[in-house]
Amino acid sequence: MPIVRTVGGEREAGMGSFWKRIFGRGQDDADDRKGLSGGDYVRVSELMQFNRNLVEALKHEHVGVELYTRYLLEANDEEGREMYRKLIEEERRHLRMVEGEIAEHKRKGYWS
Ligand SMILES: [Fe+2]
Repeated sequence: MPIVRTVGGEREAGMGSFWKRIFGRGQDDADDRKGLSGGDYVRVSELMQFNRNLVEALKHEHVGVELYTRYLLEANDEEGREMYRKLIEEERRHLRMVEGEIAEHKRKGYWS
Protein backbone atom coordinates (compact mmCIF):
# COMPACT_ATOMS: atom_id res chain seq x y z
CA MET A 1 0.00 0.00 0.00
CA PRO A 2 1.46 3.39 -0.94
CA ILE A 3 2.26 6.02 1.65
CA VAL A 4 -0.46 8.65 1.46
CA ARG A 5 0.22 12.18 2.59
CA THR A 6 -1.48 15.50 2.28
CA VAL A 7 0.15 18.40 0.47
CA GLY A 8 -1.78 21.61 -0.10
CA GLY A 9 -5.03 19.89 0.81
CA GLU A 10 -4.68 17.35 -1.99
CA ARG A 11 -4.01 13.68 -1.52
CA GLU A 12 -0.78 12.35 -2.93
CA ALA A 13 0.32 8.75 -2.90
CA GLY A 14 4.09 8.04 -2.70
CA MET A 15 4.86 10.14 -5.75
CA GLY A 16 6.25 7.43 -8.00
CA SER A 17 2.90 5.77 -7.74
CA PHE A 18 1.05 9.04 -8.41
CA TRP A 19 1.53 8.61 -12.15
CA LYS A 20 0.67 4.91 -11.89
CA ARG A 21 -2.58 5.80 -10.15
CA ILE A 22 -3.45 8.17 -12.97
CA PHE A 23 -2.34 6.16 -15.98
CA GLY A 24 -2.25 2.68 -14.54
CA ARG A 25 -0.60 -0.23 -16.28
CA GLY A 26 -3.65 -2.00 -17.52
CA GLN A 27 -6.77 -3.79 -16.34
CA ASP A 28 -5.19 -4.82 -13.04
CA ASP A 29 -4.83 -1.18 -11.97
CA ALA A 30 -8.44 -0.22 -12.57
CA ASP A 31 -9.21 -0.47 -8.84
CA ASP A 32 -6.32 1.88 -8.01
CA ARG A 33 -7.87 4.61 -10.17
CA LYS A 34 -11.37 4.44 -8.67
CA GLY A 35 -10.52 6.96 -5.94
CA LEU A 36 -9.27 9.63 -8.36
CA SER A 37 -11.05 12.93 -8.35
CA GLY A 38 -11.41 15.54 -11.07
CA GLY A 39 -8.91 17.56 -9.05
CA ASP A 40 -6.34 14.74 -9.42
CA TYR A 41 -6.65 14.91 -13.20
CA VAL A 42 -6.43 18.71 -13.22
CA ARG A 43 -3.32 18.53 -11.02
CA VAL A 44 -1.67 15.98 -13.32
CA SER A 45 -2.56 18.06 -16.36
CA GLU A 46 -1.01 21.14 -14.75
CA LEU A 47 2.11 19.21 -13.74
CA MET A 48 2.56 17.86 -17.26
CA GLN A 49 2.17 21.36 -18.72
CA PHE A 50 4.64 22.75 -16.19
CA ASN A 51 7.13 20.00 -17.13
CA ARG A 52 6.74 20.84 -20.82
CA ASN A 53 7.30 24.51 -19.96
CA LEU A 54 10.50 23.60 -18.10
CA VAL A 55 11.82 21.65 -21.10
CA GLU A 56 11.00 24.62 -23.34
CA ALA A 57 12.63 27.06 -20.90
CA LEU A 58 15.77 24.90 -20.82
CA LYS A 59 16.03 25.12 -24.63
CA HIS A 60 15.63 28.90 -24.55
CA GLU A 61 18.32 29.35 -21.91
CA HIS A 62 20.73 27.21 -23.98
CA VAL A 63 19.95 29.31 -27.05
CA GLY A 64 20.58 32.47 -25.00
CA VAL A 65 24.02 31.23 -23.93
CA GLU A 66 24.88 30.28 -27.52
CA LEU A 67 23.65 33.61 -28.91
CA TYR A 68 25.52 35.79 -26.41
CA THR A 69 28.64 33.66 -26.79
CA ARG A 70 28.54 34.30 -30.52
CA TYR A 71 28.00 38.03 -29.95
CA LEU A 72 30.90 38.03 -27.48
CA LEU A 73 33.22 36.53 -30.08
CA GLU A 74 32.05 39.06 -32.65
CA ALA A 75 32.23 42.12 -30.37
CA ASN A 76 34.83 44.70 -31.33
CA ASP A 77 35.24 46.53 -28.05
CA GLU A 78 35.80 45.61 -24.43
CA GLU A 79 32.65 47.37 -23.23
CA GLY A 80 30.52 45.22 -25.53
CA ARG A 81 32.37 42.05 -24.59
CA GLU A 82 31.82 42.82 -20.89
CA MET A 83 28.09 43.22 -21.46
CA TYR A 84 27.91 39.87 -23.29
CA ARG A 85 29.90 38.15 -20.53
CA LYS A 86 27.34 39.39 -18.01
CA LEU A 87 24.46 38.24 -20.20
CA ILE A 88 26.06 34.80 -20.60
CA GLU A 89 26.52 34.60 -16.84
CA GLU A 90 22.87 35.55 -16.35
CA GLU A 91 21.66 32.94 -18.85
CA ARG A 92 23.77 30.28 -17.11
CA ARG A 93 22.18 31.27 -13.83
CA HIS A 94 18.75 30.80 -15.45
CA LEU A 95 19.88 27.43 -16.78
CA ARG A 96 20.86 26.29 -13.28
CA MET A 97 17.47 27.47 -11.95
CA VAL A 98 15.55 25.50 -14.58
CA GLU A 99 17.78 22.44 -14.16
CA GLY A 100 17.26 22.65 -10.40
CA GLU A 101 13.50 22.75 -10.85
CA ILE A 102 13.61 19.74 -13.18
CA ALA A 103 15.77 17.83 -10.70
CA GLU A 104 13.30 18.68 -7.93
CA HIS A 105 10.38 17.42 -10.03
CA LYS A 106 12.27 14.20 -10.75
CA ARG A 107 13.10 13.78 -7.08
CA LYS A 108 9.44 14.17 -6.15
CA GLY A 109 8.35 11.78 -8.90
CA TYR A 110 6.50 14.54 -10.77
CA TRP A 111 8.53 13.97 -13.92
CA SER A 112 7.39 11.57 -16.60
FE1 LIG B 1 17.29 33.54 -19.55
